[in-house]
Amino acid sequence: MTISPKFLSGSQIRQTFLDFYAQRGHKILPSASLVPEDPTVLLTIAGMLQFKPIFLGQRAAESPRATTSQKCIRTNDIENVGRTARHHTFFEMLGNFSFGDYFKKQAIAWAWELSTEVFGLPASNLVVSVFREDDEAFAIWRDEIGIPGDRIQRMGEDDNFWQSGPTGPCGPCSEIYYDFHPERGDNIDLEDDSRFIEFYNLVFMQYNKDAEGNLTPLQNQNIDTGMGLERMAQILQKVPNNYETDLIFPIVQSAAEIAGIDYHNSDEKVKVSLKVIGDHIRAVVHMIADEIRASNVGRGYILRRLIRRVVRHGRLIGIQGEFTVRVAESAIALSEAAYPNVRSREAQIKAELAREEAQFLKTLERGEKLLEEIVDR
Ligand code: SER
Repeated sequence: MTISPKFLSGSQIRQTFLDFYAQRGHKILPSASLVPEDPTVLLTIAGMLQFKPIFLGQRAAESPRATTSQKCIRTNDIENVGRTARHHTFFEMLGNFSFGDYFKKQAIAWAWELSTEVFGLPASNLVVSVFREDDEAFAIWRDEIGIPGDRIQRMGEDDNFWQSGPTGPCGPCSEIYYDFHPERGDNIDLEDDSRFIEFYNLVFMQYNKDAEGNLTPLQNQNIDTGMGLERMAQILQKVPNNYETDLIFPIVQSAAEIAGIDYHNSDEKVKVSLKVIGDHIRAVVHMIADEIRASNVGRGYILRRLIRRVVRHGRLIGIQGEFTVRVAESAIALSEAAYPNVRSREAQIKAELAREEAQFLKTLERGEKLLEEIVDR
């Protein structure tokens, strides 16, 4: 029997992941808000954030194992959004967590079983990385899972030591990559994103980092993992990038329709704008649903900036006038089953978008008029 990636919709991937870990003793917990309790970050950037106090020993775990699908926002790679196949501001991270319960060996075995036996990824398409000094993880992959040594890459702190911020719980990690082009041979360069995509990060959360950079062992050895839902969808749905998965593409299409263009017949620049709109609209819909409002500071400023980028990219593809509310409707329809608050807060989402968009369009038009006058003179 040949193993091949199983076609699954985004919601099926989410459910399959949660069910797999629920069957292995994990409690399914809801996604936390995008507004974190943790004051060290502006937005929820990873699935582990709601568990940080547990990792630090400040709060007891409700259950020693948990699994979540966490909505996340990261803006550090915002300039790459739409330009690469896989960068986002908003994304969903599927995670399984152990609070002083199972550790490396079990986390690796389950991640492999889920990837190969449940999602059907052929072992010949998978490559893994471990932290440079983590001989234990290397040995588990090679001797227990049976990965050939040349498909286990040792990497440094930048890639394989995970921390949510400058201080706090952290640890070495091991990542699983999908190889879209195994025919290109054994010359493995995991930085080559035309060939590889990292889709599952297993963090062996075992230290606390202080402001001076010192590492002290945590009370427990924990597991924090993250699988990119959009990335897994790209792999299983066999599309060239995350934006063409069923999680985002309907939003892209609704923007294209408003602009009167066809995504597939558009040139690269227009496609980038459509992808930026697809990505950012998801982010702003969820941010407003989580009660963030546009302003000039902190989270509110991030929201304002994202809305303005949507408007600007809309103008770049020829959309005149207001359109964000209509595009938001398709994002709400896509997300409401998993995140019902986008529907219950629909009115607030639309009002905030309409207000910000109208205000920004006015500013843009004023600027354009001024420019025309200068040119005329
Ligand atoms: N915290 C890790 C990450 O964000 C694994 O979940 O990649």
